[in-house]
Amino acid sequence: MGGVGLDLRLSPVHEDWSLLVQTKGRIVKLAFLGDIHGNLPALEAAWEVLEERSPDLVFVTGDLVGYGADGRACLEWIREKADFCCLGNHDAVVCGKLVPWGFRPESLSPLDRCRRDLPPEDVEWLASLPLVVVHDAQGWSLVHGSLHEPEHFHYVLTPQDARACFAKLETPYGCLGHSHVPGLFFEPSPGALPQWARIPQGALPLPETGRFLLNPGSVGQPRDGDPRAGFALFESETRTVEVVRVDYDIGEAARRIHGAGFSKDLGDRLFLGI
Ligand SMILES: [Fe+2]
Repeated sequence: MGGVGLDLRLSPVHEDWSLLVQTKGRIVKLAFLGDIHGNLPALEAAWEVLEERSPDLVFVTGDLVGYGADGRACLEWIREKADFCCLGNHDAVVCGKLVPWGFRPESLSPLDRCRRDLPPEDVEWLASLPLVVVHDAQGWSLVHGSLHEPEHFHYVLTPQDARACFAKLETPYGCLGHSHVPGLFFEPSPGALPQWARIPQGALPLPETGRFLLNPGSVGQPRDGDPRAGFALFESETRTVEVVRVDYDIGEAARRIHGAGFSKDLGDRLFLGI
């Protein structure tokens, strides 16, 4: 793990990617997380567990800010500790790249506060984040919304959404966020309608063929009915994926939101995982 250093290339799928998912002959473990949304208690707790699992690389699918009270702290945490990060729609609003049309009214105050909190170098760093990260050597592509028109931050919720995303996927694996719901879309053969699967607790071996879109869920505002912070791990040798859930001090996160004067609902929903 290390600070975000962007070595980005958009390049075609390797012929034999299985040889490339290892680094210098060593099995690699990758961590994926996103939708942190200014929830520092959740990020601290999740990161403690993540570090115990010793990933080689940490990928972040964006939305570091918004909703929560600690957008600046979360941004600077990821900037310092993660390896790759792409731009989320909330990040894009804060750095002035996106007008928040369609955002729910209660989400605007945290974005305004964050914009005022951030020093210029943090805003510049946010603005420098790419919409898509392609890591050829590991065979993964990273995006916040969909690889189909990533600048529009489409949700990938249905098999049809996933098919459009797969059509732009140039690596065996893709990782995305935005819905805050952990799970996996599986494309059994090129162009086939993808299938959605919730990932059960524990490591899930992936089928030997087919491509995958992983959603690691959300660190800071899960919406699958489980209020615990979530992230995902992938091991190259076994092709296993695991969604990890971590208890954290939800009361503290809610107190900070309420103390900041944001909508009460933004704190209350954390207890419900919605
Ligand atoms: Fe989000």
